[in-house]
Amino acid sequence: MYLVTGATGTVGRAVVDQLLAAGLPVRAITRRPEAADLPAGVEVVRADLGDPDSLPPALVGVRKAFLSTTGTEIPRHDANLAFAAVAAGVEHIVKLSSGRAGDPAATDPIPAWHRAGEDAVRASGIAWTMVRPMGFMSNALHWARSVRESSTVRAPFGHGRIAVVDPHDIAAVSVAALIEPGHAGRVYVLTGPQALSPGEQTAIIAEIIGRPLRFEEISPEAAEADLLRFGVAPEMAAAIMALRATALESFTSTVHPTVADVTGRSPRTFREWALENRAQFTAA
Ligand SMILES: NC(=O)c1ccc[n+]([C@@H]2O[C@H](COP(=O)([O-])OP(=O)(O)OC[C@H]3O[C@@H](n4cnc5c(N)ncnc54)[C@H](OP(=O)(O)O)[C@@H]3O)[C@@H](O)[C@H]2O)c1
Repeated sequence: MYLVTGATGTVGRAVVDQLLAAGLPVRAITRRPEAADLPAGVEVVRADLGDPDSLPPALVGVRKAFLSTTGTEIPRHDANLAFAAVAAGVEHIVKLSSGRAGDPAATDPIPAWHRAGEDAVRASGIAWTMVRPMGFMSNALHWARSVRESSTVRAPFGHGRIAVVDPHDIAAVSVAALIEPGHAGRVYVLTGPQALSPGEQTAIIAEIIGRPLRFEEISPEAAEADLLRFGVAPEMAAAIMALRATALESFTSTVHPTVADVTGRSPRTFREWALENRAQFTAA
């Protein structure tokens, strides 16, 4: 049995779909099974990574686990899952980490939380694979509303280029690590094929939807105020902004060959991602 945490999230859902497509048995953890909307064939189990008592039943019979955790609770939730996985006899954990967890200069909260989470997984003694993606292409969905309503993309750090990666490719590498031999003890830094600035991403979206868009650089303060207005907690908003500021560093713009090395096919381009998600930028 393959356990997927974060199964209702961006990468976890893609992992679920790809494991199912490979004909493998999948169990998904969610706090709200009634809202999970997962495909038929998935065994959906209610569990909370913050509640250690809820985890043992979810891990019965599990051989391999995909571990996705978010926010300030990453270290604690990774440790909870790893602890329960030892007791359940899990053989391999594939952890979704952060591209910058391996950057010695990265002292801001999100890579630090992931570093602590990785340490907890390693300390479990279970075989592990760390999957460390750079920025997700799907972060551009945060622009969808302003594209639809005002043909404008607003973002800070306009000069920063990130080698953004398609969540589909993150899932493909994770699934390979789960189902093939040879991935234990490996750390995979994942990028797409090209580093792009938000203005360059805006131009690609404009081409895909067939109408001009304006890119407007906003200050980091304005971007943080937007996060707070959307209900992001202050500690998380500050962490996200510290991460976004690293778009100006060369570490985030370096393209890595890992997706092709692991999956045997080229990573998807931002153009391909935008084409697949075109409706989000055009629907009424
Ligand atoms: N976005 C980026 O550019 C980027 C880049 C590199 C790394 N990352 C990392 O990727 C991870 C986020 O992945 P994502 O975007 O795929 O996730 P996501 O879409 O934000 O989904 C979050 C998932 O976590 C689950 N979850 C949250 N709290 C939980 C709890 N207490 N117990 C059980 N499940 C819980 C949710 O499940 P339910 O609500 O169904 O319970 C949901 O499935 C983060 O660790 C982030 O640091 C992101």
